[in-house]
Amino acid sequence: MPIGITALGTYVPQRVLTNKDLEGMFDTSDEWIVSRTGIRERHLSQPDEFASDMGVRAVQDLQRRSEGALEGVDMVVCATSSPDAYFPSTAALIAGQVGLAGAGALDVSVACSGFVYALSVAQGLLLAGAARKVLVVGAEVLSKIVDWEDRSSCILFGDGGGAAIVQEVPAGYGFQSFVLGADSAGGPSLYKFAVADRIPGVPVGTGNPKLGMNGREVFKFAVRVIGDSGTQALEKAGLRGDDVDWLVPHQANIRIIESACTRFGIAMDKTVVNLDRYGNTSTASVPLALREALDDGRIRDGDQLLLVAFGGGLSWAAGAMKWYGGAQPLARQEGAVRREPRDVQREVVGR
Ligand code: ACO
Repeated sequence: MPIGITALGTYVPQRVLTNKDLEGMFDTSDEWIVSRTGIRERHLSQPDEFASDMGVRAVQDLQRRSEGALEGVDMVVCATSSPDAYFPSTAALIAGQVGLAGAGALDVSVACSGFVYALSVAQGLLLAGAARKVLVVGAEVLSKIVDWEDRSSCILFGDGGGAAIVQEVPAGYGFQSFVLGADSAGGPSLYKFAVADRIPGVPVGTGNPKLGMNGREVFKFAVRVIGDSGTQALEKAGLRGDDVDWLVPHQANIRIIESACTRFGIAMDKTVVNLDRYGNTSTASVPLALREALDDGRIRDGDQLLLVAFGGGLSWAAGAMKWYGGAQPLARQEGAVRREPRDVQREVVGR
């Protein structure tokens, strides 16, 4: 049974924090941040907005674009690294607010790899007969867990949400392969404590109660695993880099994305990049990139996509899919204040 995405919605909160704003908060510069990361601004949630709010807004956007898309959803899978609570799950909280109380609901905790992982989890539930139609959500308020005194990490992140309906699609469309992995040897490079204030490899008492990150280690890891997992996902699907119409990578750092493109032999102008306006929104980043490229007509029915992501764990996830456009109305996101999409390839990549 071919399975793919049939509807998509996204949300970013209205408040924008620019690199110039950050210059007034600590010793940094727009020039440093843009040249090291490609990020120019990010959207931040209000104090009383949490991951479930990002997810609910993304689902509402999905409903506006694809009327009736929630009908028949019997499972909600939410990927988040900044859940509202240990329990109820963020998936259950979202389900309750969008009229899906009673559906199965579970969270997926794989940090920024989470959305691609969750697509694969949804496919597994459908193929196992445990669900007939799955709502997959990526929802984050990383601004609430980053260390605003650590200038090397807090500049990277933004808040937002993405939501997708995953179900059976016509033959020839949908998911072709997934490659998922994690290695806790890299855990100390990117972590956020919960109940235990210890992580193997982080000497007791030296950890950061907020998000702790060793940027250089994560960078090296990301370049390696994005290249490896993306190549494996293509091989599993019987594809090569030049078969790919659009690479849709996790939006962490433009230099990581550039290295992935080189590894796959995919040109930057075949890569969806919007991190300049949103920063790293963790599990929301892949759906935000997908939605934008659908809205401006870059991704079309039948296009070959390669999704790649990495994150805390350390973890990685890649997936090849043939885009099913049959149920995807083109409409711009309502509600969020955002600028007209810039030509990111020219502005960020062509610097
Ligand atoms: N402004 C100005 N200077 C800074 C800043 C800043 N915001 N941050 C760090 N610096 C300084 C450092 O102190 C250092 O100074 P020094 O040489 O005097 O010691 C210098 O800049 C270079 O620091 P590096 O860490 O070597 O800079 P690098 O080029 O590696 O860039 C960065 C840092 C942007 C964090 C990069 O390593 C990176 O993007 N890593 C990946 C991080 C990532 O993607 N994390 C998210 C993973 S997804 C998830 O699951 C959450």
